[in-house]
Amino acid sequence: MKIVNSKNIISSLVSEYKLLGKTIGFVPTMEALHKGHISLVKKALSENNIVFVSVFVNPTQFDNSQDLEKYPRTLERDVELLKEVSDKKIIVYAPTVEDIYKNNVTSTKFDFDGLENEMEGEFRDGHFNGVGTIVKRLFEIVTPDNAYFGEKDFQQLQIIRKLVEKHKLSVNIVGCKIHRETSGLAMSSRNERLKPEHKKAAPFIYRILKAAKKKFGTKSAAKVTEWVVSQFAEQDLLKLEYFTIADIKTLKPIKRKSKNKKYRAFIAAYAGEIRLIDNIALN
Ligand code: PAJ
Repeated sequence: MKIVNSKNIISSLVSEYKLLGKTIGFVPTMEALHKGHISLVKKALSENNIVFVSVFVNPTQFDNSQDLEKYPRTLERDVELLKEVSDKKIIVYAPTVEDIYKNNVTSTKFDFDGLENEMEGEFRDGHFNGVGTIVKRLFEIVTPDNAYFGEKDFQQLQIIRKLVEKHKLSVNIVGCKIHRETSGLAMSSRNERLKPEHKKAAPFIYRILKAAKKKFGTKSAAKVTEWVVSQFAEQDLLKLEYFTIADIKTLKPIKRKSKNKKYRAFIAAYAGEIRLIDNIALN
């Protein structure tokens, strides 16, 4: 498998493939790969001739420097996992911070029409400017036909779509289903940091999302929210940060249900020290 550290080499590889008429898929990641990431890579492989996977812990999207320090660095293991999927059709781009940012590790300020201010935006200052900065830069380097993002980070997915629309980037964004452990817990690199008792408690998050979806069929968003909050209050090991039912286009909390709009329910909760997020489509 080719593992490349320099954007110039990536650019020349991309030019070669484009000359040969190959379609290019792209899966950006931040290391610590798990089956959730791999499901994106497999989808990309099934829809493109060649797939670039970037593996880069992007410093500008961390609102908390401790989180950045603690972030697992697992490049060797990641490469092994990717090799098991395809040795020949995947190219790994594992840049240094300098390769991406030179000596200016800062993010650009973006206007995502307010999507950046909802939910995660409220709790993670500057996070989406960091995500926008790195993803735009990576798109400029890889110039993919199709780029794959997980619905696990649904707000991020919608923000990337907005980035593409506003900056008129010629890449097709593909949203991919949330990959879950058999317990229902959404896969995340953070799951490995859960203490055993929290790991046991955390699948409650998906169970309550499914129950909320059922209730949303007959009850108002306010009633469903009230119920979810009360259910979390009974959980000793989990602490709810937010539960929001939002319009998938604006990500604004729903005021009144409308038949021709699509909604999703979103949760952020702490299991001990570990912050987990999850979401579900409601209609
Ligand atoms: P990271 O957290 O590594 O996730 C990379 C991609 O994998 C994202 O699109 C994310 O939504 C997807 N993903 C993670 N867990 C998943 C799961 N359980 N099921 C399906 N997809 C899942 O998201 C980032 O990195 C960064 O913000 C990045 C976009 C790479 C920019 O730095």
